[in-house]
Formats: sequence, C-alpha cells, structure tokens
Amino acid sequence: MNRQEMETHNHISVLLHEALAGLNIRPEGIYVDGTFGRGGHSRQILSQLGSQGRLIVFDKDPQAIEVAKAWAAEDQRIQVVHAGFASLTAVLDELGIDKIDGALFDLGISSPQIDEAGRGFSFRFDAPLDMRMDTTTGQSAALWLATASEDEIHEVIKNYGEERFSRAIARAIVQQRAQAPIATTRQLANLVAQVVHSRERGQDPATRTFQAIRIFINRELEEIAAVLPQALARLSVRGRLAVIAFHSLEDRIVKRFMQKYSKPEPLPRWAVVKEADRAVPPLNLIGKAQKPSLAEIKMNPRARSAVLRVAERSHGSWNG
Ligand SMILES: C[S@@+](CC[C@H](N)C(=O)[O-])C[C@H]1O[C@@H](n2cnc3c(N)ncnc32)[C@H](O)[C@@H]1O
Repeated sequence: MNRQEMETHNHISVLLHEALAGLNIRPEGIYVDGTFGRGGHSRQILSQLGSQGRLIVFDKDPQAIEVAKAWAAEDQRIQVVHAGFASLTAVLDELGIDKIDGALFDLGISSPQIDEAGRGFSFRFDAPLDMRMDTTTGQSAALWLATASEDEIHEVIKNYGEERFSRAIARAIVQQRAQAPIATTRQLANLVAQVVHSRERGQDPATRTFQAIRIFINRELEEIAAVLPQALARLSVRGRLAVIAFHSLEDRIVKRFMQKYSKPEPLPRWAVVKEADRAVPPLNLIGKAQKPSLAEIKMNPRARSAVLRVAERSHGSWNG
C-alpha cells in the first residue's frame, strides 16, 4: 500500500469534538496523542496549537507511523514515535521533556487495521491470522495458538473475551492444531462456530474469541494500566488526560484509575489527621463519562461502544 492509499484508507475519529474539548488545548502547550491511527484527533489538536506548540504522536502500527512521518516532514511541531505508548516516560526523558499539557489515548484498533484483510484482525475476511498492531515485532496470533497450552488459551479467551465457552474453544483449538496448524482467520472462526452454540443477537460466534486474542497479542490492557500513572506523573498543573475506551475491560482500568486519584485516600476511623491536612488528590474529574450521540453512532456504528473520560491534574506535588 502506498502512502496515498494509506491516508485514504480511512478512520472516522470517534468523539472527536468531545475529546478536543476535554483536552482544553493551550496553544503553546506540549501534547501527546498516544494513538495516532490516521491522525483524526491529532489534526484537530494541531489546528488549535500555535507555532510554539508541540505534539508527540505514538503508534505501534508501521502504516500509521508512515502517515505520521509524512505529516512531520511538513510540520516541525510534530514528533513521531514508533512504539507502544507505555514507553511514554522513557520517550519524554529522551526528548528532554519534563511536563506535558495533555495526553489523549483513543484505544483499540483503527478502521484501516480492521478493514485490511491481510492484518488478520477480522473474521469477515480470510487472511493469515496475524492480529499484531506492530507487524515488525512480537508473535502473531497464529504462532501463539500453535504453541500455547490449552490452559493458557482458555484463560485468555475467558478473561479478555468474557466468553462462556472458553474452555471448549481452547480444547477444540488444541485438538485441531494436532491435525494441522490454525493459520487463517477463517479456520479459527469456523472452529469457534462449531463450539459456540448460542450467541447474543447480532454477534458473530467468533467475536469474543477474536477480541480476546487481539487484546492478548498486543498486551492492550497492560499498556493502558502502565501508561496512566506515567501520564499523570508528567501532566503539568491543569494539564488534561483524555481516554476513549471501547469495551468494559479497558474502561474499567481507566475508570478505576481516575477514581482512585481523584478521591482523597480513605482514612482509618481512628486516624488523628484533620480533614484540612489530608493529601489533596492529584486529579479532578472533568464532567462525567461521555458516550457518542445517536447521530454519531448512526454515522459511524463503530463508535457505539465508545466511552470518553477526562481528568485534570489538580496540583504539582504528586510524582507517583
Ligand atoms: C482507535 S485508533 C486511533 C485513531 C485516531 N485517534 C484517529 O482519529 O485517526 C487506535 C490506534 O492506536 C494504535 N495503538 C493501540 N494501542 C497502542 C499502544 N499501546 N501503543 C501505541 N499505539 C497503539 C493502533 O495501532 C491504532 O492505530
């Protein structure tokens, strides 16, 4: 795929205006877009940044990075990082940046990743079972399924797919691979369909299994859990953290994190600390969790499960 095809292989940004309002951009500030994708959110951030503003963009995906690099060649405010966003602290240290004014994480995968058959994310196409966001490193889903134990496969499908039939699916995978490797999306989808007999309306039998394997292969939940405290530690006072999650496993991590750091530590009943002496939590929640409007969902059904949460750094004396 050439760059023009990559740019036009489009992604409709979710909760775009809400996320930008949440970031409350300071024109000369330093911002992080942890999930560049095709740059929908980045474009809006840049449009609000002045000439001294900076935007550091991350993506694991080589195609997303190619698009970002083309932008950076024409706009010196942009710095491109091909890495997982959990390397935030290390990257900021390397760039000599102490504080940032905001960070956005629009989690999960992009439409180009789902819609390009060869990436192996979707059971709608028959393709090699890859599922890596970063195709330059790590093991593909096919390789993992060829080597993992039945228990390991079961745990992943149960925990990351919340799949009732996880044990039966894991057993079927292990039995099948003894005959021939499970190398394609179609093979896996057919195998799962043989084992999953009942399904929620409108959901393919393979939906939960594919989601689970994708989350595992890309260490998605570990990356989120790792980056949130890093972002908080680096936010300047009144700096904003905005996260868009697409399923309850992601959102739970974000919600718990923001709640934990926006509430005062509970005191034991016998504590002799006065209310005024209690440590002030480092985050303030900004508004409630926001979901896309019906109009947005109608225009972009992939937005339907999105949830945006925004928090603001309240003071400077917290370093993790
Ligand atoms: C939902 S898309 C972002 C779309 C983007 N906001 C836009 O408007 O074009 C998520 C992107 O983040 C990337 N990504 C997901 N998790 C990542 C992580 N832990 N580190 C770096 N990139 C990640 C994916 O490769 C994908 O390109």
